[in-house]
Amino acid sequence: QRPRIVVTRRIAEPAMAILRAAGDVWSPEPDRALPADDLHKAAAGADAVVSTLQDDIDGTFADAAGPGLKVVSTVAVGYDNIDVAALSSRGIVVTNTPGVLTDATADLAFGLLLNVTRRLGEGERLLRSGTPWSFQLDFMLGAGLGGKTLGIVGLGQIGTAMARRARAFGMTVSYTARRRAAPELETELGATYLALPELLTSSDVVSLHCPLTPETRHLIDTGALAAMKPSAYLINTTRGPVVDEAALATALSSGVIAGAGLDVFENEPEVHPGLLGLDNVALAPHLGSATVETRTAMAELAARNAVAVLAGDEPLTPVRGR
Ligand code: GLV
Ligand code: GLV
Repeated sequence: QRPRIVVTRRIAEPAMAILRAAGDVWSPEPDRALPADDLHKAAAGADAVVSTLQDDIDGTFADAAGPGLKVVSTVAVGYDNIDVAALSSRGIVVTNTPGVLTDATADLAFGLLLNVTRRLGEGERLLRSGTPWSFQLDFMLGAGLGGKTLGIVGLGQIGTAMARRARAFGMTVSYTARRRAAPELETELGATYLALPELLTSSDVVSLHCPLTPETRHLIDTGALAAMKPSAYLINTTRGPVVDEAALATALSSGVIAGAGLDVFENEPEVHPGLLGLDNVALAPHLGSATVETRTAMAELAARNAVAVLAGDEPLTPVRGR
C-alpha cells in the first residue's frame, strides 16, 4: 500500500512531485492554516506529515495521526512548535530545513538593520503621506554602521552569516551562545565571546539568532533592554517570544533604546499595537526565508527528508532533541 503523505500547507511544485512519487499526497484545498481539530483529522492514518511553523505538533497530534506516523518534516529551521520529545518517544522522526535558508535570513536581518538605522521605512512613509520635504544637510539623519559593534545572540549558521555581513560593513562582532565557537571561527569573524549582560551593554546593535526554547523565551525583557545603550538597535528575525514585545514597545517609545527591526512577533500575526505607531521600528511580516529560491529549496529538502524516512533511510537533516 502506498504511504499516505499529508502536506499541511502549499509547498513548491518540485517538492510536491518528489512526494507524489513516493505516496498518496493530501493537502488542504484551498490552502489554509488548519485549526488543531482539522489538522488532527487530516493527519489520521498518515505515514508522513510535511508541516510548517503554524502547526502545533505535539503528543495529541501524534496520537491523532496514529501508529503509522513515521516522520514529521517541518518546512522551517525553527521547530519550537514541535514537541520533539513526545514524537521521539513514539518513534517518530522529526526533520527540519537548516542551511538552505541561512543566507536569505541573514540578508533580511541585515536589511532590517539598514532600514531602521537609515530610516528607510520612515522616509518612505513621509513621501507617501505627501508631506512637503526638500534635501537638507541635517534632514532625517540616521546612524552609521562602520566602527560600530554588532552583538550576536546565538552563533549558529544564521548568526554566523549575519556576522560575515556585519564585517563587510566595517562592524566589529561580538557574540554570546550556549557554547563558545571554535577558535578558527572566532578568528575568521574577528568575534569576541561575551556573556549576555556584557554583550547587551557593549553592543550598538543586538541581533537575535538563537532558537526559541524555554531558556530563551523573553530573553530580551525590560531589564535586558535597560542594559542596552540608549543609542542601540535590536534586530529580531528568530521567533517573536524571544522578546517581551510589550516591554520593547515601551522601551522604543521612551528612548530606552534607539530602534528595532522585527520580522517576527510574539503573537503572530498580531503585532503589539504599541509598535505600530512608532517610527523607530522597521517591521516585516515574517519574511526571513521568503525568496523563491530559498522556499523552493526548503520544500525540496523537507520532501526528501520525508521520503528518506518512508524508505527506511536516514533523513538528510534530522532534528536531535536538545
Ligand atoms: C522560519 O521562521 C523558519 O524557522 O524556517
Ligand atoms: C544558541 O544559543 C547557540 O548556541 O547557537
